[in-house]
Amino acid sequence: MRPLTPTRFVEFDPKTLSDLEGRVVVQITPEGTLGQAARTANRLTKGAIARLVEAASFEKAKAGEVISLAWPAGMKAEALDVLITPRKITPIEARKAGAKLAALGSGKTVTVMAGSMQRAADLALGMALRDYRFDNHKSKQEEDGAGEVIIAHKNPSEMEGAYAPMAAVAEGVHMTRDLVNEPANVLTTTEFASRLAEMEALGLEVEVLEEDKLAELGMRTLLSVGQGSDSPSKVVVMHWKGGDADAAPLALVGKGVVFDTGGISLKPAAGMEEMTMDMGGAGVVAGTMRALAKRKAKANVVGLVGLVENMPSGNATRPGDVVKSMKGDTVEIINTDAEGRLVLCDVMWYAQERFKPVGMIDLATLTGAIIIGLGHENAGVFSNDDAFCNAFLKAAEAEGEGAWRMPLGKAYDDQLKSRIADMKNVGGRPAGSITAAQFLQRFVQEGTPWIHLDIAGVASVSSPTAYAPKGATGWGVMALSRMVQDMLETD
Ligand code: BES
Ligand code: MN
Ligand code: ZN
Repeated sequence: MRPLTPTRFVEFDPKTLSDLEGRVVVQITPEGTLGQAARTANRLTKGAIARLVEAASFEKAKAGEVISLAWPAGMKAEALDVLITPRKITPIEARKAGAKLAALGSGKTVTVMAGSMQRAADLALGMALRDYRFDNHKSKQEEDGAGEVIIAHKNPSEMEGAYAPMAAVAEGVHMTRDLVNEPANVLTTTEFASRLAEMEALGLEVEVLEEDKLAELGMRTLLSVGQGSDSPSKVVVMHWKGGDADAAPLALVGKGVVFDTGGISLKPAAGMEEMTMDMGGAGVVAGTMRALAKRKAKANVVGLVGLVENMPSGNATRPGDVVKSMKGDTVEIINTDAEGRLVLCDVMWYAQERFKPVGMIDLATLTGAIIIGLGHENAGVFSNDDAFCNAFLKAAEAEGEGAWRMPLGKAYDDQLKSRIADMKNVGGRPAGSITAAQFLQRFVQEGTPWIHLDIAGVASVSSPTAYAPKGATGWGVMALSRMVQDMLETD
């Protein structure tokens, strides 16, 4: 993992402005009122910022935008970035502004003359989130982002304290992105498991369950997905025990299909390369566990991921095969491309049997249909418990991660009826995301509050988002970390 952009908090002093090198950021309001550092910069540049405010184009400039002046006279900096924000801003606005600044970078030091800005830590978080690249397979690394970030603030120690847990979460987001971006020939099930095992160094307990153990547990539906691949199927269990010893954990369960060819129900060639991100759910679980460990969350959380590869071969599962799940229910596999639910149902059952969790959240790049329904703006949220669900929706909104609740119901469940087994693994074309969720709900025990997040549309995107360059987003790590905080870290 590339380390996060080094970020330092120093005492604010406008007198230092003329000698700062790299990029220097000052703030003005949308009404054209100059902040303290902006006034100094305006004086040094003999009125450049005042002229910017008077220019006709400033009328159209919106809050959160950055106007860059290159090689400003009277300063050593190579760019003076004028950030337009109202004096009072929300954490999300501050992050988005920070992300805009990071997107400008050129590998140089960026000094943000934040003065008394209340949301300076969020601004730094936005910079850290956006300052991400996945270039370890390029022979020549490009310089972008920031080499170093310096936040000059009137209360640097307070801001530094506020930023520390945010940096932990940003690191989790970066880890998720690295996993999701990694091609499937590198991120095999074995490599994935060993990257998770490395997190023991952070204080997590990590167990890797191998195929013989999974067979013994009866996880036949999970094993049926991986049996066509030369890569062994695995389940990895990550424990974070930051709470009371006797408190039941929250369980996070992730779909980790390292590559989804569709199996014998082979996908078409066009776009199949995108299925390297089909372990996105497991990636978010991993990144969240990292964030919790790094910020030493006072909570018990267990993360479980099912790692498999869905390949066609002489040993692959056929359409029409019937397999028995760990729960004991039998599944008629109509379509081997509806494999995610077969992985999740066994891991979810195991999570409940072993941990009796206070709640269970599963994440999966489960259906193409959720992209048709919600696009790339919102993940699909399904739940059997309104209070639990609303807590998640609230956390997601606070973090600026799109999430939209979808319905469940008996009529959808009926679409899964099978002639020869307890259920089919697909429910036909109508409401494909909902029938997938209904399939999962059959493996949720009475009394377990449960949320299913279908992240097929948000895990990886083809154009930059507010917080991420194009590619893997890390969607969900921030919301889940906050939900753990809101729900479990109450004293
Ligand atoms: N991994 C896919 C879903 C997916 C599609 C994720 C696009 C990300 C982007 C999943 O395993 C799948 O193939 N689902 C099928 C289900 C169908 C066979 C019922 C789908 O969505 O077409
Ligand atoms: Mn599939
Ligand atoms: Zn899949």
